[in-house]
Amino acid sequence: DPVLDFALRCPKAELHLHIEGSLEPELAFAMAERNGIRLPYADVDALRAAYDFADLQSFLDLYYACADVLRTAADFRDLMLAYLARAHADGIVHAEIFFDPQTHTARGIRFQTVLEGLEAGAAEGLARWGISSRLIVCFLRHLSEEDGFATLAEVEPFIARIHGFGLDSSERGHPPSKFERLFARCRALGKPVVAHAGEEGPPAYIYEALDLLKVARIDHGVRASEDPALLQRLARERMPLTVCPLSNVRLCVFARMEQHTLPQLLAAGLNITLNSDDPAYFGGYLGDNIRAVQAAFHWDAATWYQLARNSLEASFASPAEQAGWI
Ligand code: HPA
Ligand code: ZN
Repeated sequence: DPVLDFALRCPKAELHLHIEGSLEPELAFAMAERNGIRLPYADVDALRAAYDFADLQSFLDLYYACADVLRTAADFRDLMLAYLARAHADGIVHAEIFFDPQTHTARGIRFQTVLEGLEAGAAEGLARWGISSRLIVCFLRHLSEEDGFATLAEVEPFIARIHGFGLDSSERGHPPSKFERLFARCRALGKPVVAHAGEEGPPAYIYEALDLLKVARIDHGVRASEDPALLQRLARERMPLTVCPLSNVRLCVFARMEQHTLPQLLAAGLNITLNSDDPAYFGGYLGDNIRAVQAAFHWDAATWYQLARNSLEASFASPAEQAGWI
């Protein structure tokens, strides 16, 4: 399919990628071995067999359990480099990468260790493949705002090395309003902020992310399709949505790809980007998402070109960097 080949080849950015969610079972077992840790699964196949999720929480339980194998700066470096190798194969020229410091500091891993490892991988990825990247610290929304403030205090000595802040983990019952003061502080530090909203949570959480957190992008946002006034607003403001199609199907937001509301979101004129979210857990990287979406919707080359362009323009890359890709 020449349209699919074009979609895969187009230079593009990935803007919604949790680096801990790129931990493949093989790498998890290799790290467990070298760190002298036992995973609660017999082998790679047993772990992969557990990737059968009913909802966001059932995924998060496994995702946090596997992150326990990440201990040293070398582990975080290897994780980043493995992701960037896959990203390069899918035509990604720029990646804005989430990480969850609280998942690691709560286990006694220093923030500095995590940061140094991820940066070492990013530097190697830039040298080998020319991929630029940014790091975005995500706060875990199932924890308190106070815990978020304590995490921000640990991040602040390294703030120049962090591009922005995000909000992830269990959405239902943890609305953006819970973090209004924390995000005001992040913005006062001069950083752009983003938030997961409208993945499992209602459209009201998307309004809160816009009005209270003042986000530069909405992560997921697919439940905006339930609210015509919200769709109009998102289109008018050209607010980027970082949509993750395979993630939404694997976490049962939509039963099948054919039922995904991507076509409605595009028809409403929204600034949509496609992303892989947690590719090791959800059945693939950005290229796999593109293949699955194209199998369901058969878009033309112009649509794929627009999606690739949206991803570059919705990125935090400088206009000079963007000019080099477009
Ligand atoms: N949603 C919320 N939290 C997450 C996700 C997600 O898709 N992936 C990793 N943490
Ligand atoms: Zn996500």
